[in-house]
Amino acid sequence: MKLSSANINVMVNACRKAAKVIIRDFGEIENLQVSLKGPGDFVTASDKKVETILIEELQKARPKYSILSEEIGKITNDDSFKWIIDPIDGTANFLHGIPHFAISVGLEHDNEIICGIIYDPIKDEMFTAEKGNGSYLNNQRMRVSSRSKLKDCIVFTGGPKFNSKDKDLILNEYNNFSSKVLIPIRKLGSASLDMAYVAAGRCDGFWQRNLNYWDIAAGIILVKEAGGFVTDFTGENEYIQNKTILVTNSNINKEMIEVLK
Ligand code: IPD
Ligand code: CA
Ligand code: CA
Repeated sequence: MKLSSANINVMVNACRKAAKVIIRDFGEIENLQVSLKGPGDFVTASDKKVETILIEELQKARPKYSILSEEIGKITNDDSFKWIIDPIDGTANFLHGIPHFAISVGLEHDNEIICGIIYDPIKDEMFTAEKGNGSYLNNQRMRVSSRSKLKDCIVFTGGPKFNSKDKDLILNEYNNFSSKVLIPIRKLGSASLDMAYVAAGRCDGFWQRNLNYWDIAAGIILVKEAGGFVTDFTGENEYIQNKTILVTNSNINKEMIEVLK
């Protein structure tokens, strides 16, 4: 089965084009690892190049839609439709030659995400979802996992950032979860892929503070359409405003909220 609608096709084509640049630059980074200069500037350039291609392609197909994108910020147009873009989510992995990062694009309509795509160009894994039409991994329908006891689950998180004002809080939450799960908590370094993995049933739950909208926009619809829950840490819908996102299969949401209390 395939998810094929006009907007999804536009997003897939834009991602595939931008991915060519990522793959080429990632190959270069692997070479640059050994150079003295280091790949710092190069990476910034990659993020920007990828963003430019995505925006060009999306604007060509949908000239009236607004845009919110990590590197350039806002392009305001018809605000009822908005692309939310993270050109490379997992830049630190990319920079260190770790093949785990993604392009993430969400489409918002009247303040609700209605389409999402997360593309891992190295593993060639294309995660897509559209409101009412399900979630797919490389054109195969995906569902969240069915594990029901937190103890048996794999959970992901991320952060805290070096200069985070919430460092103690975040580390406390990490400690609390550590004592509840048998398998140690994972931090894979790409929030969009963390959410895609919950949608695919690879991971059972994910929580993180202080993410930006572009980190999570596409993941929101992927998880919902795969049958999972997206809430804030109290089970409400304020995860974008509160910057506290909790993403779970349909069984462990309450148990994770208890830990976060
Ligand atoms: C980062 C990744 C990471 C998360 C950070 C984000 P970036 O995005 O999603 O997993 O822990 O908070 O900033 O900077 O690589 O686009
Ligand atoms: Ca990001
Ligand atoms: Ca980014």
